[in-house]
Amino acid sequence: MIKKIHIENYKSIDTLEFELGRINVLIGENGAGKSNILEAIALAGAAAKDKLDNEFLVSRGIRVTRPDYMRPAFPGFNPMNKISIALDSNTSDLHLYELENNNTPYSKWVDPAAETRKKIHDKMKLEINDDYIDDIEGFIKNFKDTDKYSINIIEKLNLLITSLHEIKKIKNDLLPHQYIEGFLIFSPEVSALRTFQREGQIEPLGINGEGLLKLLSVLSSHEYAETFSELKDSLQVLGWFGDMRITNTDPIEGNRIEIKDRYLEKDQQYFGQLSTNEGFLFLLFYFALFSTELTPKFFAIDNIDASLNPKLCEKLMLELVRLAQKHDKQVILTTHNPAILDGLNLDDDEQRLFVISRNANGATRMKRISKRKTPVGERPTRLSEMFLRGILGGLPKEF
Ligand SMILES: Nc1ncnc2c1ncn2[C@@H]1O[C@H](COP(=O)(O)OP(=O)(O)OP(=O)(O)O)[C@@H](O)[C@H]1O
Ligand SMILES: [Mg+2]
Repeated sequence: MIKKIHIENYKSIDTLEFELGRINVLIGENGAGKSNILEAIALAGAAAKDKLDNEFLVSRGIRVTRPDYMRPAFPGFNPMNKISIALDSNTSDLHLYELENNNTPYSKWVDPAAETRKKIHDKMKLEINDDYIDDIEGFIKNFKDTDKYSINIIEKLNLLITSLHEIKKIKNDLLPHQYIEGFLIFSPEVSALRTFQREGQIEPLGINGEGLLKLLSVLSSHEYAETFSELKDSLQVLGWFGDMRITNTDPIEGNRIEIKDRYLEKDQQYFGQLSTNEGFLFLLFYFALFSTELTPKFFAIDNIDASLNPKLCEKLMLELVRLAQKHDKQVILTTHNPAILDGLNLDDDEQRLFVISRNANGATRMKRISKRKTPVGERPTRLSEMFLRGILGGLPKEF
């Protein structure tokens, strides 16, 4: 997981540093800068992948504007400044992405350090997995314990173990780069979800939901049987949902999804995605996104509550927290719906809530909300209620 992010000079962000958990929810007024924070991280992802052309930025969910407006347009800020995003460590340049643009017509974003970084990464990239290293270490330890060897040999074996630990450390140092590479800002749209067949530039899932049918077809194959059945379990949050299958009956249209409604006539129980409701398609998208190693490890969903009933928002969050823990996903969500917060458990350090606001100069600020202790004798207040009563912040001033 990525623990810490430092952003400088991106749109409404002058300088911002925050520590992330596994599930991170951002709330705040319209225009506070929630999406700008996600975009800055997506920009680091594009830099890590060395794909900084505008078309790639757009397909990651970044609203690309004139290059000077990609930096803060506040008084006194130089529109030539670098945009900088650092992951986890301030002291090492290994995960520092600094982007420049000379603001001339058709100019491009460049990351002057990209080549050097790639060389370092290539050198450090080791195709050995941790289990293998553990096996060798265990083997050496057994070997040493047999008492048959001279001090000299034991010393050499100890050195070997130290080197193995070094290798593990180097591999770990590379992880933030690997996590950020796949970072996208998902913002599913019903049109993309319904015209299921459309596939996007980014696989397996595009930011608006493109590619979902293909992903489901893959997941319905024998190899992913467990994932597909888990997906169906997750969908039980909808009371009417009975079953789901992918069929391949139409040679022209190819695969199609069929969904079963418990309440329908026996011989008409299965219907296609065109007859299903919007909420279902959104849930299907989210659960698929969280349930497989085919999708990114670290990503964002902007406005997660779109099209969902408040009570379902709470259930959705509980399920996403469970899936994120199980499948080792790290995610940043934004929402305007208080009900989403009720699915968060702030006693768990992996689940975090942040309020985003603008300071007196207009710059974006971020504050982590910790759980308020309930005074003795009072009933605990739900987070949704605290949000609506203004206790958490992030609400516009009264009219
Ligand atoms: N170059 C810039 N310099 C300073 N501020 C900017 C710049 N570009 C955009 N902004 C500000 O950032 C705001 C948009 O922020 P953002 O889209 O992140 O808000 P948000 O919190 O996601 O809002 P919503 O909840 O409506 O989606 C704009 O309204 C604008 O005021
Ligand atoms: Mg937004």
